[in-house]
Amino acid sequence: MQSNVRPESMQRITTPELAAAFIDEQVKEIREQVGDKKALLALSGGVDSSVVAALMIKAIGKQLVCVHVNHGLMRKGESEQVIEIFGKELDANLVYVDASDRFLDLLKDVSDPEKKRKIIGGEFIKVFDEEASKLEGISFLAQGTIYPDIIESHGVKAHHNVGGLPEDMQFELVEPVKLLYKDEVRVVGEALGLPHAMVYRQPFPGPGLGVRCLGAITRDRLEALREADAILREEFDNSGLAEKVWQYFIAVPDFKSVGVKDGKRYEGWPAIIRAVNTTDAMTATIEEIPYELLHLITDRITHEVDGINRVLLDLTPKPIGTIEWE
Ligand code: XMP
Repeated sequence: MQSNVRPESMQRITTPELAAAFIDEQVKEIREQVGDKKALLALSGGVDSSVVAALMIKAIGKQLVCVHVNHGLMRKGESEQVIEIFGKELDANLVYVDASDRFLDLLKDVSDPEKKRKIIGGEFIKVFDEEASKLEGISFLAQGTIYPDIIESHGVKAHHNVGGLPEDMQFELVEPVKLLYKDEVRVVGEALGLPHAMVYRQPFPGPGLGVRCLGAITRDRLEALREADAILREEFDNSGLAEKVWQYFIAVPDFKSVGVKDGKRYEGWPAIIRAVNTTDAMTATIEEIPYELLHLITDRITHEVDGINRVLLDLTPKPIGTIEWE
């Protein structure tokens, strides 16, 4: 078994060749560790869990059971992508759970950000646990732990993470990328044939759109947020900004302003654009967005998204503003 310390001599994985060698070595190790038993993985569709899934599927095929919990707070198209890539293309043993109603019912009328996080985190564990207990003969739990999670175990991901699992689960862990840095996980992911967009996906908080649909979440405002966010992402992709900006998203607060549409009074929510650059998420700077692009995004969001009547730009660096609004 690997230790939790990356040896000084370990080469940084920067090329497809180095990634291929890493993959061969891990496939062998995973096969040795798991044997003919079964492993379980919570597959969020994020970079780390996706790469671990692809690696494990290569090593043990259908002995890996992937569980994807859709908490109803995913971005547009994300759960569909997980089903497409893992369920169809990689022919994985994938359990898809649409738990949207459970989460949204529990979150109804809850406006306190920490309460929202606790509900989402707690319910995630419950749903995952329920699915796990339906499965027979699981001996291993695969996890997308990466090296920064180990060395910064007091850091952002650890105390934020929704993917935390019940402590009483009696599984042995399989953590094939735990000595890798994020950039290496991405190189390995591409070598495994995962789509570029999945491997280079921007960070997305575990509670998902739940912390961007500010205050008490309603289904209509959540839907408006999801559509506006999809437009922002599309335009960042088209303009090349997606490659330059670390994290960019929309937040939608729970108040309305007056507007006018088709000659009639039109009350709607504002969509707030946040686009930041950072290396460690502890501090962040504001990325310049060309005005032309801002106008285009504003035009599309206000015309294409039901319920939004203004677009605002958040110019606050961290500190003082955190990256997320909640
Ligand atoms: P803040 O808002 O604290 O965010 O400046 C720093 C980074 O952490 C992400 N973040 C989260 N990630 N669960 C997560 O997994 C969370 O609850 C959470 N809250 C914030 C945020 O997106 C940013 O990248």
